[in-house]
Amino acid sequence: MPVDVLLGLQWGDEGKGKIVDCLSTHYDIIARFQGGPNAGHSLEFDGKKHILHTIPSGIFHQNKKNLIGNGVVIDPIVFDRELKGLHLDFDELNSRLFVSTKAHLILPTHRLLDQASEVSKGKSKIGSTLKGIGPAYMDKTGRNGLRVGDLFQSDWDQRYQMMVDKHFDLLNLYPVETDFDFDLEQNLFFEKLETLRKSSVVDSMTFLSDAISHNQKILAEGAQGTLLDIDFGTYPFVTSSSTISAGACIGLGISPRSIRHVYGISKTYTTRVGKGPFPTEIFDENARYLLKNGNEIGATTGRQRRCGWLDLVALKYAVQLNGVTHLILTKGDVLSGLDSIKACWQYSIDDSISNFFPYDLNPDQLKPQFKNFQGWHQEISHVRSKKDLPKPFQKYIQDIESYLGVPIHIISVGPDRSQTIYD
Ligand code: GDP
Ligand code: IMO
Ligand code: MG
Repeated sequence: MPVDVLLGLQWGDEGKGKIVDCLSTHYDIIARFQGGPNAGHSLEFDGKKHILHTIPSGIFHQNKKNLIGNGVVIDPIVFDRELKGLHLDFDELNSRLFVSTKAHLILPTHRLLDQASEVSKGKSKIGSTLKGIGPAYMDKTGRNGLRVGDLFQSDWDQRYQMMVDKHFDLLNLYPVETDFDFDLEQNLFFEKLETLRKSSVVDSMTFLSDAISHNQKILAEGAQGTLLDIDFGTYPFVTSSSTISAGACIGLGISPRSIRHVYGISKTYTTRVGKGPFPTEIFDENARYLLKNGNEIGATTGRQRRCGWLDLVALKYAVQLNGVTHLILTKGDVLSGLDSIKACWQYSIDDSISNFFPYDLNPDQLKPQFKNFQGWHQEISHVRSKKDLPKPFQKYIQDIESYLGVPIHIISVGPDRSQTIYD
C-alpha cells in the first residue's frame, strides 16, 4: 500500500506544510488532493520561511516529484506568483512539478462572485478567504467548470467567454458595490495562463497509477482541516471540498485500497480563522498568550486566528472520520510559560454530558467541560527526544494518546524543519 495521507484534524493551519516538508524524504511523490489558494502552508529551513498555496510542500526536495491533483482548484495568477517566488529554473521546476489536466480553474469572476456572495450575507458571512474557492467548486459540481485540460482545446476562448457571461448574469442578482478591477484582473489572468500552459500537465490518475506499479511511495497532502470539510465540518462555516482522508481518493484518482497510513495533525491547542462555532474558544490572557507566542496570523489572508484550548471531543470525531493511524502534534513550544493548560474532555449539551461532536454547536446549549493540566516553564524548541520534554508535557501527551486511542508519532516544537521530535 504505497499511499500515505497527511491532513489537518482541526480548522486548518495545524502545521501541515512544515510536517509534509519533514516527511518528504520518505516519499517519491507529494500530491495535493483538494483545496486551492485558500490554503497557506508554511515551512522553514536554513533560516528562511516559505509559504505555499497551491504547490505541494515537497517542492523544496530536489529529487522528489510534486503533483497538483484533480481535486485542487487552481488560480493561474496565484500559481504563477508562487512559481516565481520559488526562484527556481522553470525547466528544473517542470521536471518535478506536475499539474492534473482535470484540476479546475479559478477565474477572476469566481473571486468577484465570492466577494459578492460574502457581502450579501452580511452578518452571517462565512469569513471566506475570497480566493474564489466556493464559486469554482460550485461550477465544478454544477458541471460548468473549466479545467486545465481545456486550455489546450480549440474552443477554449468561447467556453471562457460563456462562463464569464454567465457569471455576470449571476452578479446582477447581487446588489453589491466592489472595487474589483475586472479588466485588469482578466488581462493578468490571460497573461498568467501561459505559465500553466507551459507547465508539465499530465493525466494525473495515470501518472500516479504508473508510479504505484513501480513501487513508488506517495504522500497525499491535504489542505484546510477536517472541521472545514464540506460534509463533516461545521457547516455552513466550512470550505467547499472534501478535506478528509476519503477526499484523497477522489482528489487524486487512487483506490482506497492503496492507502496505508493516515497522519492526522493537530496543534496542542486550537485555532480558527473566519466565522463559525468554536466551543473551546477563549478570550482571556491565555488567548492573547497563544496568539502572540504562537504567532497566530493567517498565512493567506493575514487575519488574526481565533485561539482556544484543545478540543478532544472534536479531535476524536476527526480521528474516527479519517481513520487516523498516526497523530502529529504541533506547536508544543507555544504552551511553554503557562502555569496551567486545559483540554476539553466532554461537552455538556442542555445539561446532559456528551462525548460526541453534535450536529449543532450552538453555544447557548453546548458548554465544553475542561480537564486541567499542569503547565511548564522550560523552553523546549531545542528538545529532540520525547523523554527530554518537561514531565507535565509528557503527561499531557499521554492523556491525549489514551483519549484518542492513537499513538503520537511526531511532536513539533518550533517552525523550523529541525525542530521536530520523531517517535
Ligand atoms: P498549515 O496551513 O497547516 O500548513 O499551517 P500554517 O503554515 O498556515 O500555520 C502554521 C504556522 O505555525 C506556520 O507559521 C508555521 O511556521 C508554524 N509552525 C508549525 N509548527 C510549529 C511549531 O511546532 N511551533 C511553532 N512555534 N510554530 C510552528
Ligand atoms: P490551510 O490549508 C484555515 C477557512 C476560511 C473560512 C472558511 C471558508 O492553510 O490550513 P474559503 O476561502 O474556503 O471559502 O473559506 O474556511 N479556511 C481556512 N482556515 N486554514 C486554511 O487552509 C483555510 N482555508 C479556508 O477562513 O472560514
Ligand atoms: Mg495554513
